[in-house]
Amino acid sequence: MSVGNKLEMDRYMVRGGNPLKGEVVIGGAKNAALAILAAALMSDETVTIENLPDVRDTNVMLDAMSEIGVVIERVSRHKVKINGANVRNVNIEYELIKKIRASYYLIGALLGKYKEAEVPLPGGCNIGSRPIDQHLKGFRAIGAEANVERGQISAHADRLVGAHIYMDVVTVGATINVMMAACMAEGKTTIENAAKEPHVVDVANFLNSMGADIKGAGTDIIRIHGVEKLHGTTYSIIPDQIEAGTFMFAAAVTNGDITVKNVIPKHLESISAKLIEMGCTVEEFDDTVRVKGTDHLKPTNIKTLPYPGFPTDMQPQAGVALALSEGTSLVTESIFENRFKYVDEIVRMGADVKVEGNTAIITGVKGYTGARVSSPDLRAGAALVMAALAADGVSIIDDIHFIERGYEDFEVKIRKLGGIIEKCGGDIDVQKFTLKTSVV
Ligand code: UD1
Repeated sequence: MSVGNKLEMDRYMVRGGNPLKGEVVIGGAKNAALAILAAALMSDETVTIENLPDVRDTNVMLDAMSEIGVVIERVSRHKVKINGANVRNVNIEYELIKKIRASYYLIGALLGKYKEAEVPLPGGCNIGSRPIDQHLKGFRAIGAEANVERGQISAHADRLVGAHIYMDVVTVGATINVMMAACMAEGKTTIENAAKEPHVVDVANFLNSMGADIKGAGTDIIRIHGVEKLHGTTYSIIPDQIEAGTFMFAAAVTNGDITVKNVIPKHLESISAKLIEMGCTVEEFDDTVRVKGTDHLKPTNIKTLPYPGFPTDMQPQAGVALALSEGTSLVTESIFENRFKYVDEIVRMGADVKVEGNTAIITGVKGYTGARVSSPDLRAGAALVMAALAADGVSIIDDIHFIERGYEDFEVKIRKLGGIIEKCGGDIDVQKFTLKTSVV
């Protein structure tokens, strides 16, 4: 059996009932890191990246880069040196890369630097159909021939020349990808209707620290003047908005009191706003937020939107909290059509939720009851762990390999906050866990 399959058998056992209390330190943003790692190969000089999250997706990205000749030196768990001077192949064949959505960032980086790239069509979480037409449209606009054939995205150009690009939808991936390639195109590129997410800004700041000329990231018009070369840099990745938001909502779900450290509170405003509407207390400090839960969670309505709206990556965690509120809430998913797969699982834990189209109608119940459930995807998996932490009794969460794609030391951080959770591989001994944890 391959290591991959073995990891896929890992699961969590959770005994609910303890409110999560204390401090948690947030790591670097996974979604910024994936783009920044790919972009790092665009220089022939060494790039040092700090505050790198040690999660499955970033490690797969590093392995794929090393397969094509990028020299990777893991200085420490959260720091890596990358040198892309000797890339020997622009065709990524590394099998595991198909599992991560952000593999497409290797196209933007390689196309920008070498005017040529071939990368397997990305996989990632199955949260809906995930087209790449806007990526291809952007690459074509700056002069590349870009196509999908035989399961690969391939792009090549004799010259890349700046252009005016209007994105038909607000897309984080296409904005970042086209921005990377355009950095090394001749002349000026304008991306209109660009995504404004904090990680778009982080990737632009990173590229600028390598000598790129990008203005306007964080607004919906990004202007790029192409440069011939990018140089080395040392750069620290921003904190992960979604990891932070997950722990903030964990305080609401378990009626806890969590101080979430190493965050940028401005990036968390839509999350804080919903928690306050639900009756939680949110205090903001320079790089910390503290969230206190309440006995009487209030219902509210949520619609996911591009930043600064409520993030789709927080929708399941919010849904799990609203299912314990005193009333009915509507949660509308407007980014991905298949993000309610966690609903069937929480219904098995006693929640009262109906999904109609892209809206979940959530009627609050008094509490969850422990059950065996399965993580349908990364964020939904984290949300199920939160439900299990609030539930009466023991739960088993299968398929936690999804959770490990994006959360570093998830169970360790939860245990430090007083949650009762254990990871186990292969055969489970529920009886042993039940007995052991019932005397805690
Ligand atoms: C990124 C994040 C993901 C997050 C999502 C939205 C990474 C690795 N993943 O995904 O966690 O949930 O942003 O914040 O950073 N679309 C098109 N054509 C395209 C590209 C996208 O129609 O070429 C649509 C998608 O179907 C979706 C919307 O645009 O409805 C937003 O997708 P996008 O922002 O691109 O998501 P990802 O970059 O894939």
